[in-house]
Amino acid sequence: MIMWTYRPEMSDFTRRDLLKSSIAASAVAAEQTSAAAQSRQGNAAPPAASAGGGRERLLLDFGWRFHLGHANDPAQDFGWGNGGGTFAKSGNTVPAARPNFDDSGWRKLDLPHDWAIELPFENNRALTDHGSHPLGRNFPATSIGWYRRVFDLPASDLGRRIALEFDGVYRNSIVIFNGHYIGDNFSGYAPFRYDVSDQANYGSRNVLLVRVDATLGDGWFYEGAGIYRHVWLTKTGPVHVPQWGTFVRSTVRPGGPAAVRISTEVDNETAGVRNCRVVSRIVDPAGKAIATVAATPMAIPAWSRREFDQTIQVSSPALWSVEDPKLYRLETTVESGGAAVDSYVTPFGIRSARFDVDKGFFLNEKPVKLKGTCNHQDFAGVGAALPDRIQYYRVERLKDMGSNSIRTSHNPPTPELVDACDQLGLMMMCETRMMDSTPEGLSQLERMVRCHRNHPSIVIWSIGNEEPEQGTERGARIEATMKRVVKANDDSRPITQAMNNGWGGNGATKVQDVQGFNYNEGRIDQFHKDYPALPMVGTETASTVATRGIYFNDREKGYVRAYDLEHPPWAALAEVWWKFYDERPFLAGGFAWTGFDYRGEPTPYGWPCINSHFGIMDMCGFPKDNFYYYQAWWGSKPVLHLFPHWNWEGKEGQEIAVWVHSNLDRVELFLNGQSQGAQDVTRNTHLEWKVKYAPGTIEAKGYKGGQQVLAAKRETSGPAAKIVLRADRPRLSANGEDVALLTAQIVDAQGREVPIADNELTFQVTGGGRLIGLGNGDPSCHEMDTAASRRAFNGLCMAIVQTSKSADEIQVQASSPGLEQAVVSLTSAAVPLRPSVP
Ligand code: GAL
Repeated sequence: MIMWTYRPEMSDFTRRDLLKSSIAASAVAAEQTSAAAQSRQGNAAPPAASAGGGRERLLLDFGWRFHLGHANDPAQDFGWGNGGGTFAKSGNTVPAARPNFDDSGWRKLDLPHDWAIELPFENNRALTDHGSHPLGRNFPATSIGWYRRVFDLPASDLGRRIALEFDGVYRNSIVIFNGHYIGDNFSGYAPFRYDVSDQANYGSRNVLLVRVDATLGDGWFYEGAGIYRHVWLTKTGPVHVPQWGTFVRSTVRPGGPAAVRISTEVDNETAGVRNCRVVSRIVDPAGKAIATVAATPMAIPAWSRREFDQTIQVSSPALWSVEDPKLYRLETTVESGGAAVDSYVTPFGIRSARFDVDKGFFLNEKPVKLKGTCNHQDFAGVGAALPDRIQYYRVERLKDMGSNSIRTSHNPPTPELVDACDQLGLMMMCETRMMDSTPEGLSQLERMVRCHRNHPSIVIWSIGNEEPEQGTERGARIEATMKRVVKANDDSRPITQAMNNGWGGNGATKVQDVQGFNYNEGRIDQFHKDYPALPMVGTETASTVATRGIYFNDREKGYVRAYDLEHPPWAALAEVWWKFYDERPFLAGGFAWTGFDYRGEPTPYGWPCINSHFGIMDMCGFPKDNFYYYQAWWGSKPVLHLFPHWNWEGKEGQEIAVWVHSNLDRVELFLNGQSQGAQDVTRNTHLEWKVKYAPGTIEAKGYKGGQQVLAAKRETSGPAAKIVLRADRPRLSANGEDVALLTAQIVDAQGREVPIADNELTFQVTGGGRLIGLGNGDPSCHEMDTAASRRAFNGLCMAIVQTSKSADEIQVQASSPGLEQAVVSLTSAAVPLRPSVP
């Protein structure tokens, strides 16, 4: 067993962790990528709008220039902060904002981009939580990034509203447009928008400059650095639906019709009164228009906003569910002066969701346990800058595990993650960065709610995580103000807070619709007795630690055995927390910390470890053994997973713990054909044998109703001989955005996995794609994500290949000295490109 004492040399635990552990210990009271993204709100092919120039939403991801700046030295920071003058006169900030500035020394890149993963790893306690990359006050030369983009606007755009929309920039960004300071945005996660109609140059060049300052952190986990989400340029007529200006929610009667209530805001950005009418058309999941309703016209005064309300009956709605995530589309047309002046598309779903004090949670009036994971947003190879496809890949992996929900700990999510959850069927607890009722905190919260409130996947909002004020009256006041803001923007969903202390009394509990519990299973029953009218959910559970393919703890390398045996003091094993939740119908379910490993929080060991081990999957989405525990007890398919591997040279005759995760009735284990005994499976529990190691084959046979239905075996392999390369999809979109995720596996001459192989693999990509990142799931690996080669870790390695915009074949080759190489051919096919800024 790991000793979970807090020796300074053992780990880079922060004070926060120490606090947490003492709290626990003393029990203190108190086609996918483009098509999917096209369908997102306000972005799908809109119904025709003629007058006022109509609406355009153009992707502004391609063709940027990037350069690191400097936090302390204006000379290395493009003159930023060079004494007086920067803000002295409108339109005259820094030379880099001028059209004639020479940016040829700046690197060309496309967004999304995270420069943190391009920095080396440093053994420095102050950097541990952020993935050991040099960001912060002591690293001024690597903490500032400048992004520059030049584009034309036609003369005909004059009179339209021109806006820049950022889905998320990490962090503290300053936007300068044509020399004008436009605004700054503090949050690393909340989306933001600037209307730049006044500052734009019509019929000529425009210079967009973004200074990003990642010196300070938002959170205590890896967060990246840079413009790591999409940027958009939107153009509308002066009378238009504002950003996130539609809200669709429905009341569903079981088996009956749904009343779909639609609120539509319309802005009149002209100097005169405008008579407007909103026409709402609902398109069903099959693409058929099923209802069109015109609202009573309204006069909107100059420079004002008005809201139109409509209710449409849908007689036999196709409900959104986890198994069958049916999506509708609202097409909004704004008419003024007898013409259509704007159009806006809002995907939505019809479903009911409610939390219940006795029976947990209901989706469409059926009881459903939330089988969830918490997740940070970074991924192997790309850091925080995930191409859209990787959001889908991650959701697919979670669903494959039998999970039905996700918590976006601890920040507003990337829009494409919410799209992926809508489209693939994963419910979401959507969380803002922290409990904060300042103008900044409320603004972040409001932006999150408005941005995502039409998504059927979101079933609850979370307003914070383990906040020091969670149990105080002051905390309750803050939460009450936050709740008011949530309800003003979305009256259809409950709120919770992920609390690890301070439940009940005069704290945040008295404000919440649903009580969140982080860990602390031992206190749940008493709370339920004391507060029988409050529904409850496990906002955060587990924090079980494991390293993929490792079966003995190794402090020096920073590895933790992957049996379900290790967890910090505040946390629990998979088998313990899930059994607890499963046995209590009043609990709505829980969210295990975490679905995927993430950079930072290397627990329990510190350097050389730079990643967390909490993931049920590693950084690449390769399953650890606990994946199959959840798959067995969360999913619906028969599971028989046998581990560890059977390559234990030097341990002949020694006892090895052999585990099986299975949801069958009975499992019999064999070593080289000799039965080691059969055992009955108990619900939510693994099976275990002690087996004296002898090379050969260990095999499990699984029985259901007396019949053998599955078998699983692990064989002692020979030495590494060749590489097997598999892509997640053979056919990609030639849009410069889509990616293939390739898994390289090392096998022996007979094609058997070599589960301990660590050969260095080199990847070469030719044709219509390029390598954008590598990963191997090793939490202690210091090879660069952006290099061309990477060691395999316990037999596996991942390469991420992105398409160009030219339809072509893509050849990916993986090679390693002494191994037979592997080549995979992918097809990158022509697709309609998303409208983007040339
Ligand atoms: C929780 C916290 C998470 C993470 C986790 C590790 O208390 O909410 O962000 O730090 O501990 O176990």
